[in-house]
Amino acid sequence: MPEPLKFAYWVPNVSGGLVVSDIEQRTDWSYEYNRELAVLAEHNGFDYALSQVRYMASYGAAYQHESTSFSLALLLATQRLKVIAAVHPGLWHPAVLAKFIATADHLSGGRAAVNVVSGWFKGEFTALGEPWLEHDERYRRSEEFIRVLRASWTEDDAQFAGDFYRLRGYDLKPKPLHLPEIFQGGNSTAARAMAGRVSDWYFSNGKDFDGVRDQIAEVNAAAEPYRRTVRFGLNGFVIARDTEAEARETLREIVAKANPDAVHGFRDAVQQAGSSTSDRKGMWADSSFEDLVQYNDGFRTRLIGTPEQIAHRLVEYRALGVDLALLGFLHYHEEISYFGTKVLPIVRALEAERSALTV
Ligand SMILES: Cc1cc2nc3c(=O)[nH]c(=O)nc-3n(C[C@H](O)[C@H](O)[C@H](O)COP(=O)(O)O)c2cc1C
Repeated sequence: MPEPLKFAYWVPNVSGGLVVSDIEQRTDWSYEYNRELAVLAEHNGFDYALSQVRYMASYGAAYQHESTSFSLALLLATQRLKVIAAVHPGLWHPAVLAKFIATADHLSGGRAAVNVVSGWFKGEFTALGEPWLEHDERYRRSEEFIRVLRASWTEDDAQFAGDFYRLRGYDLKPKPLHLPEIFQGGNSTAARAMAGRVSDWYFSNGKDFDGVRDQIAEVNAAAEPYRRTVRFGLNGFVIARDTEAEARETLREIVAKANPDAVHGFRDAVQQAGSSTSDRKGMWADSSFEDLVQYNDGFRTRLIGTPEQIAHRLVEYRALGVDLALLGFLHYHEEISYFGTKVLPIVRALEAERSALTV
């Protein structure tokens, strides 16, 4: 019996919401708003929350709360939700982060996870006085980072001799209650190779069915030589409304009210970040203006329409091998509840029908 599709939401811990648009967004980046949201999400069938890491203002995001501390606060405010803290190698020693996450794991009864992101925002690194590595070097560093995290969580006298990090008999105690799950962002060739070698989960930018099929095949091929299984999370921006016309109208308005300077600034930064890949297959390589209005190409997943339409698409994605849907919304509080009460029950009913057919 296939496992049911899991659900995560993007934590709005950065101001401006999940779309770079001046459309009204009844979403707030404050702790109070987010604490209520996390509780609502776990009562509405969400398994995970994913925080964002950004250290300074940029492209539609003037204010930010720090990801690891904010994630811990959300863990302490909830009972079942797993919270994935986004982290940048290069700005943390991985064993220090391993210690932080081990403590968060104990404080939350084993619900802490990490999303290792290799970075696109050069200005942030240079403002912090840190070197900005060439694209594939960032991934070489991220892979070492993940190896050090795991060694710290599982070995008593951890040794590691890398180009970026070293351990000399590091003894992290207490070990985590449950081995924290390691997610990664990034869709380039280097990202897929790293997922195959070391990550538990691979996050993809928004994609249509063909795009997902190809991406899953490539990630599986990268994992196969290591006899590993990498689970697949797909980003999608949800606009669920009672009628398809309303949902389409909302998308039209988001794009019509996009802030062109912010979108173009973001486009230039991400293209610069991907420009040193040898095959130009970075995450935003073929993103249009409309795609970039949602930072992670979330409109491309087409979770836009009535609850029935969205549920059918989600179940199709599940059949293609998507394990987790990572979702963003315009008006978080109201839309997470709408999703949980209107869309999710249809997803579960369709999944039950499909598994009855395959028995
Ligand atoms: C699901 C997901 C979440 C991400 N979260 C962040 C983040 O919080 N902060 C950040 O700087 N980059 C984030 N990124 C972007 C990565 O740092 C990276 O720049 C991007 O994935 C491009 O990688 P690529 O060149 O390998 O495709 C995220 C990427 C994905 C897919």
